[in-house]
Amino acid sequence: MKPAKLTLDGQDYEFPVHEGTEGEVGIDFTKLRSKTGAISLDPGYGNTGSCTSTITFIDGEKGILRYRGYPIEEIAKSSTFEEVCYLLIYGNLPSSEELQDFNEKVTHHSMIHEAIKDFFQDFPPSAHPMMVLSTMVASMSAYYPRAMSDADLDLNIIRLLAKAKTIAAFSYKKSIGQPFIYPRNDLSYTQDFLNMMFAVPAEPYEVPSVLDRALNLLLMLHADHEQNCSTSSVRMVGSSQATLFGAVSAGIFALWGPLHGGANQRVIEMLQTIRDDDMDFRKYVDRAKDKHDPFKLMGFGHRVYKNFDPRATILKSAADDVLTEMGIDDPLLEIAKNLETIALEDEFFVERHLYPNVDFYSGILYRAMGIPTEMFTVMFALGRLPGWMSQFKEMSLDPHTRISRPRQIYMGETQRPFVPMELRGKSKSELEVEEPELTPA
Ligand code: ACO
Repeated sequence: MKPAKLTLDGQDYEFPVHEGTEGEVGIDFTKLRSKTGAISLDPGYGNTGSCTSTITFIDGEKGILRYRGYPIEEIAKSSTFEEVCYLLIYGNLPSSEELQDFNEKVTHHSMIHEAIKDFFQDFPPSAHPMMVLSTMVASMSAYYPRAMSDADLDLNIIRLLAKAKTIAAFSYKKSIGQPFIYPRNDLSYTQDFLNMMFAVPAEPYEVPSVLDRALNLLLMLHADHEQNCSTSSVRMVGSSQATLFGAVSAGIFALWGPLHGGANQRVIEMLQTIRDDDMDFRKYVDRAKDKHDPFKLMGFGHRVYKNFDPRATILKSAADDVLTEMGIDDPLLEIAKNLETIALEDEFFVERHLYPNVDFYSGILYRAMGIPTEMFTVMFALGRLPGWMSQFKEMSLDPHTRISRPRQIYMGETQRPFVPMELRGKSKSELEVEEPELTPA
C-alpha cells in the first residue's frame, strides 16, 4: 500500500501503511513526532492500534469474532474451555496428546499455597470477590518466581490459570462463611470450579452436566477480545516488565469497572429494579435516552461492535435453552428480551448503533446456575484469563515491544512565578503593589 500523506502547517510528510491479514489498515505513526514535532491525539484510543497481534480478530461492523482464525460460533458449538485456553496461549488447536498433557499440568497446579489461603481470613466479609481475586493474584508474585525464560513464563501461565479458579471459589466460600472445598484432580476445569463453589463437606455433590456445559460456553465466549480496556491494562503494566501476576491483577481491576466487565452485575441489578418497578421497561428506555439523566441501559453498546455482538447472540439462545432445561421461569429474561426489542426499534439506539453486548444475557445464565450476582464479574475474569495471559506472552516475546508511555497535549497554565504562602489568595492588584521576588524558573 502507498504511504499515507500528511500536510501539517503547509509541509508534507509521508508515513508507511501496514495492512493486516484481514485487510485492516493502520498508518504507522511511530516516527510522527520525530518527523513533524506533533503527536496524534486520540482520547479513549478509538483510532489507535497499540500493537500488532495474531490472537483475536474482530470485525465490529460485521459482528465477527475469531480466536486464532476460528469463528466464535464454531468454537462455542464444538470446543471446550481447556482447548480454547491452549489455542489462545500456544496459537493452534492441540492434538489429543497435547491437550491431555496441558490438562494434566493445569489440574496438578490447582492447589494454592496454604499461606495464600490464610490471606482470605483477613478480608472483611463484605469484601467484593473481584477485589479478593485481584489481591490474591497479585500476591502470587511473592510465592512464584518472576519468569526468567520462555519456559518459566509458560509455567507461570499454567500456575495462574490453574489457581485462579481455586482462588475464585475460595473467595465465594469465604463470603458465605462455608469451609473451603479443595480442588479435585479427577474433574475438568469447569467441573472442578463448580464443585469448589457448590459442594460442602457434609454431603456428596455431583456437578450437573447442564451447569458444566453452560459454564464451558460462558468461559469460552469470554476468553479473549483483543485490545479491550482490561487487556490493554495487562499489556501496559507488563510493558514495564512487571510480573505476569501483577499485570493480570491490574487487568482484573480494570475489568471490574461498570463500563467494562462489571456491567454484567449491573445488568441484573437494573433488570431487578425494572421488575420491582411494575416491569415498566419503557420508562427505563426513556431514562437512558435523557441526556440529563446519568442512567444508561447496562449491557448495551460497545466500542467495537456496531451491528451485533456475536457473543450476545449465542448467549441469548443459550439462556433460553438452559432455563428451559433447568425448568426455570425467570421474569428477568422476559424483561431483558422486551428491553432489547424496544431499544432495537428506537431511533436513539438505532442511530447510535447500540445493541446488547456480551454482558446483557450472561447474568441471566449465571443467575440460573446459582452463581451469586457479586460473582458475575469474577466469572468473566476466569474466562478472560487465557486471553490476558496469551496477550501478555505475545507482548513479552515481541521484539518491537517498548514500555507503554503515551504523550499528552498540555492545556494547563503556562509558566508563572511561584507565589510565597503569605501572598497566596491576594488579588492581582494587591499582588502588583507587593510584587513578590520571582523564583528563577
Ligand atoms: N445507554 C444509553 N446510551 C448509550 C449507551 C447505553 N448503554 N451506550 C452508549 N450510549 C450513547 C452515548 O451517550 C453516546 O450518545 P451521544 O452520541 O448522544 O453522546 C453514544 O451512545 C456513543 O456512546 P459512547 O459512550 O461514546 O461509546 P463508547 O464506545 O465510548 O462506550 C460503552 C462504549 C462504554 C460500552 C458504552 O456503550 C456503555 O457505557 N455501555 C453500558 C455499559 C456496558 O454495557 N458495558 C459493557 C461493554 S462490553 C464489555 O466491556 C465486556
